[in-house]
Amino acid sequence: MNNSLLRVEHVTISYNGKQVVSDVSFELKQGEILGIVGESGSGKSTIIKAIMGLLGEEGMVTRGDIWYKGENLTEMREKNLRKYLGTEIGMVFQDCKAALCPVRTIGVQIHEAVSEHEKITIKETRQRAASLMKKIGLEDGNRVLDSYPFELSGGMNQRVGICTAMIMHPNLLLADEPTSALDVTVQKQVVEELLLMRKEYHTAMILVTHNIGVVRKMADRILVLKKGLVRDYGETEKVLDHSQDDYTQKLMNSVLHLKRDAE
Ligand SMILES: Nc1ncnc2c1ncn2[C@@H]1O[C@H](COP(=O)(O)OP(=O)(O)O)[C@@H](O)[C@H]1O
Ligand SMILES: [Mg+2]
Repeated sequence: MNNSLLRVEHVTISYNGKQVVSDVSFELKQGEILGIVGESGSGKSTIIKAIMGLLGEEGMVTRGDIWYKGENLTEMREKNLRKYLGTEIGMVFQDCKAALCPVRTIGVQIHEAVSEHEKITIKETRQRAASLMKKIGLEDGNRVLDSYPFELSGGMNQRVGICTAMIMHPNLLLADEPTSALDVTVQKQVVEELLLMRKEYHTAMILVTHNIGVVRKMADRILVLKKGLVRDYGETEKVLDHSQDDYTQKLMNSVLHLKRDAE
């Protein structure tokens, strides 16, 4: 046995019988960060959702296995998978507001999530949350905790989502374009906090992002997807700077052009 935390083995995924992810394999050890990149529609979110059994009615893993700490997640029912949510596996989506309940305050929701896994008072939850919020640029944590999602901006809700996932120090964090909607300064703060969490708690992460700067800084390895197929998989520097694959090269060039155009 090696110390692998997550092992995705030859996974193929379909929606309503139409195959969108084909034969994807990768492995994640404790504390490792994998970046997943690829054009829109290439299956990045689908892979993230498959890990947590969130493919919905229409989606299905048709072949392959997803092993987490020696248990096969593809064979687990939704109810059992839920016990992993939070402390074992945390998730951040591109649109965190959609995952928040509109009629309860942020503080109540964060406390609900945390207290499901540990014995903690609301006061402690609030202190912990406010201190984490401050580190990612939400200065007035108490006001945020007393707010409803609709009272906050998109960027603030996004940081609430990041905070909710991070506060439980999951073993594995699945982050699907977590910083895409945030401005550059906040993005940097979030990246720093995620790296700090990895350092302190050996959190493993899967990070889906369009931002090559962020993957370069964070990821140990990169998986390049195109139309559901793996085009490249390897150490970050190798994939970003020395890939032999023409699609990966094209993707990197287009990102560099975009960057130059923006300058
Ligand atoms: N719920 C769904 N039902 C049917 N097709 C879907 C669904 N979700 C995603 N797809 C399709 O699966 C493919 C991969 O989508 P997705 O994983 O969202 O890509 P990415 O995150 O890389 O942009 C796309 O062709 C998309 O249209
Ligand atoms: Mg996506």
